[in-house]
Amino acid sequence: MKLLHIDSSIAGVGSVTRELSAEIVALLKGADKSWNVIYRDLVAEPLSHLTGGYLAALQGAPADQAVQADVGAGLAVMEDFLAADVIVIGAPMYNFGVPSQLKAWTGRLAVRGKTFSYGEHGPVGLCKGKKVIVASARGGIFSAGSPLAALDHQESYLLSFFGFLGIAEISFVRAEGVALGPVVRAKAIAAAKEHAAKLAA
Ligand SMILES: Cc1cc2nc3c(=O)[nH]c(=O)nc-3n(C[C@H](O)[C@H](O)[C@H](O)COP(=O)(O)O)c2cc1C
Repeated sequence: MKLLHIDSSIAGVGSVTRELSAEIVALLKGADKSWNVIYRDLVAEPLSHLTGGYLAALQGAPADQAVQADVGAGLAVMEDFLAADVIVIGAPMYNFGVPSQLKAWTGRLAVRGKTFSYGEHGPVGLCKGKKVIVASARGGIFSAGSPLAALDHQESYLLSFFGFLGIAEISFVRAEGVALGPVVRAKAIAAAKEHAAKLAA
């Protein structure tokens, strides 16, 4: 079984999502030693924004060396994703959405004919059967029913994106309110770790 582990927080030590994503992967590996893990740190090795040259090259247009290298980088992340049974993603909320590094990664995954297609009745996700676990952290509280819930474009984006690709099983291991003081932060992280342990079991 293949596990793809992605991190996207710009914080190093002290990152909540990095701590949680590592914990989830460790728990999964603890439960089953046969996991083959591929790790990608989108901050240490960022993908570039999509470009017109990249899109044209995907459709067969001639590409210079820089575009060819960019297409190669995109194909590499696509292959890791397509091969994975489970994808664990460290995804902080930045400015109500996901980090631009993570957005650059999803941009390389949404490729017609590879991860989705269009049928008579609309889009069809081609990635059925994969599982996604998102290690989510945010400074405030945005979960369903809270006054700021409508401002969540982080988890809601990931839910929509992977749903579009046909992935129905997406779980959020969430630490929220981490900016509301050390007590709330510690409780949020502990609750997230408890949730992670339940998921891994
Ligand atoms: C650039 C930046 C933007 C942020 N934007 C938001 C935000 O819009 N809403 C929020 O509740 N918290 C926001 N935060 C707080 C983070 O979501 C919180 O610190 C979280 O722990 C970040 O994940 P990390 O610890 O893995 O880096 C922001 C933090 C940073 C660094």
